[in-house]
Amino acid sequence: MAGKVDAFVWGRVDLGAMKAVILVGGEATRLRPLTCNTPKIMVPVLNRSFFEHLGGYLKKHNIVDIVLAVGKSPEQIQDYLGDGSKLGVRLTYSIENRPLGTAGAVKNAERFLDDSFIVLNGDIFTDIDLSRMMRLHHKNKATASLAMTPVEDPTMYGVVETDSEGRVKRFIEKPSREMVTTNMINAGIYILEPDILSCIAPDTFSMFERDVFPPLLEKGQAIYGYPFRDYWIDIGAPDKYLKLHHDLLRRYVGNKGIKFEGESFVHPSAHIEGPAIIGEGCFVDRNSIVRGPAVLGTRCRVEEGAVVEGAVLWQDCQISKGAKLRNCLVACRCRIGEESEISDGCILGDDVRIGKGSKVSKGIKIWPSETVEPGTILS
Ligand code: GTP
Repeated sequence: MAGKVDAFVWGRVDLGAMKAVILVGGEATRLRPLTCNTPKIMVPVLNRSFFEHLGGYLKKHNIVDIVLAVGKSPEQIQDYLGDGSKLGVRLTYSIENRPLGTAGAVKNAERFLDDSFIVLNGDIFTDIDLSRMMRLHHKNKATASLAMTPVEDPTMYGVVETDSEGRVKRFIEKPSREMVTTNMINAGIYILEPDILSCIAPDTFSMFERDVFPPLLEKGQAIYGYPFRDYWIDIGAPDKYLKLHHDLLRRYVGNKGIKFEGESFVHPSAHIEGPAIIGEGCFVDRNSIVRGPAVLGTRCRVEEGAVVEGAVLWQDCQISKGAKLRNCLVACRCRIGEESEISDGCILGDDVRIGKGSKVSKGIKIWPSETVEPGTILS
């Protein structure tokens, strides 16, 4: 019998018939102003929508049936992603009229779910081995398995305590330092049995870790944690969004690599230092510097003597003569005036205008379409 179990546990699990629900109905407040006009699932990462990365990851695991649980802006997301065929996946939309929370959103998608299924937060980039997680889910005969990843400071997250067998003992939301007993947090990736849906109230706001899992634990249901150490990042906060760019640039183009996505003009005296991705149709003028890790969206202009260092620019941005940008995030169509400076951690929404000779100090966020008058010092 043990032999049979082992064969099952270590054999290959085909996830091809499984469905995945991706939760994309949150407010995305932390990523504003980038997400003022662009839903988080569509924000570009290395010039491709975040969904392309997530959908590609699921496809790699042979999961092509994806239900998107959408709240705000369903038309914008549907128009952009369509039926998923361009990416080789099948997309179904489950639309909420009002926020239902992570569990309420899955309940709302119940009509699409009839077998074991996967749930993913729509802002997670990870390399977790879903097939292995599935094997353990079956081996444990779990009602729910949730992926757990270690973090340095668990006080900002939902912590999961397990016993030596991996069975969940309790959930602690954002524990104080004294309460921290483990650094394993809920990674926002679940495998669930469909029975669980009958424990979630319809059309009611509810969260898995607060309203669904704890009562199930009390009833003695098998909820297991799946610890993993593969790459995992939640792009919901701007520093993590920038970090994902820096990490993926090193992964895909190498430490010193430069990738041109199409034709661009680079003046012979300009200096581009990898890792960097230069979108199609960019113009990098004389004596300018692009120092990686950096991404230029399509049709960006970096004019004479300008410096872009560690930054991510979405499409159609203009960095005028002598301007300097460092470790910042700049959304579509921004104009940065001559000799202006944008410092670390700044975030500019779409269509921001920064007047000539302005200085924007560390961490400042500027909302879409705002104009900063020439010579302004924003601190
Ligand atoms: P913040 O406002 O910055 O916290 O962003 P968020 O609400 O998008 O992120 P949070 O970490 O709170 O949510 C984790 C994931 O669950 C994200 O992918 C959200 O889109 C998703 N989510 C949160 N609430 C809902 C909801 O009511 N419905 C759906 N469908 N998804 C949700």
